[in-house]
Amino acid sequence: MLKNSRFPDCYYLCVINKNKNIMYNLLKGKKGLIFGALNDKSLAWKVAERAYEEGAEFVLTNTPVSMRFGEIHELAKKCNTIVVPADATSVKDLENLIDKTMEHFGGKIDFILHSVAMSLNVRKGRAYDNLDYNFLGKTLDISAISFHKLLQVAKKKDAINEWGSVVALSYVAAQKTLYRYNDMADAKAMLESIARSFGYIYGREKKIRVNTISQSPTMTTAGSGVKGIDGLMDFTERMSPLGNANADEFANFCITLFSDLTKKITMQNLFHDGGFSSMGMSLRAMTMYNQALENPIEPESYDE
Ligand SMILES: NC(=O)c1ccc[n+]([C@@H]2O[C@H](COP(=O)([O-])OP(=O)(O)OC[C@H]3O[C@@H](n4cnc5c(N)ncnc54)[C@H](O)[C@@H]3O)[C@@H](O)[C@H]2O)c1
Repeated sequence: MLKNSRFPDCYYLCVINKNKNIMYNLLKGKKGLIFGALNDKSLAWKVAERAYEEGAEFVLTNTPVSMRFGEIHELAKKCNTIVVPADATSVKDLENLIDKTMEHFGGKIDFILHSVAMSLNVRKGRAYDNLDYNFLGKTLDISAISFHKLLQVAKKKDAINEWGSVVALSYVAAQKTLYRYNDMADAKAMLESIARSFGYIYGREKKIRVNTISQSPTMTTAGSGVKGIDGLMDFTERMSPLGNANADEFANFCITLFSDLTKKITMQNLFHDGGFSSMGMSLRAMTMYNQALENPIEPESYDE
């Protein structure tokens, strides 16, 4: 610890690591559970690395299939932890996951990250006015209802300490139409609603926070499944006064929500998007638009 020259009785509690991240020990002593780290591009992967740097201990989880193809064991080794497989749509798997996590720590946990989503309609290129309803059911189950299942299992098992924090990941398509985001927009709207409805009950009864973070488009495996994400990222970059928020910045923000510094934030959808969600039109985007009008092109088709 370094002595603080301004306040001689105080010490600095932060250090700077090799990635030039300042480490504040914000999660020292906290225990958690992190869903969704597939590879080092995943938003959950970045959160795990950052949470570890901030002093947290946590269990990692993902589906058995993704564990075979992903690199989660590498992350677990780095963070000195275990991986417990679970399909987030299976209540049985979630019960086993929560039991194993509590066994691992010998008690309750303090934070959970739900970083889980998938749409077969997006994957298979089904347009929003030509949805496959079995796929839609799966989209909603994986990307939204799994959050309710997780919260319900955690509450029934009394798995989270008072003032604990649960965060799920959303996107601005829940509020505004962005072409090609398809049925995932419906899933995100539902996810945000679950955070509010469950947040009320969990807050009232157990003082537990439930929030969603609405993140800028980010180049991850799920992100690159959205056709044309490059163009979307360029657009949102030009539209946002602070530019897009990247995955490392996302992790920093998420850590604050797991920390004790944000104890009274709950039932919120928090935009982490450089200001995009509050913009109508920016000078940079309008300049590009005006240039394009000199050489207008129509989309090849409206079938998306
Ligand atoms: N990348 C973006 O542009 C962006 C923007 C806003 C929000 N998000 C959200 O962030 C979250 C994480 O996505 P990401 O971008 O890091 O991509 P990612 O592909 O790295 O992560 C998605 C994860 O969901 C997991 N998953 C899928 N089905 C599951 C199931 N049934 N049970 C448990 N896990 C399952 C996958 O294995 C994967 O680890 C998602 O909710 C996504 O919608 C992403």
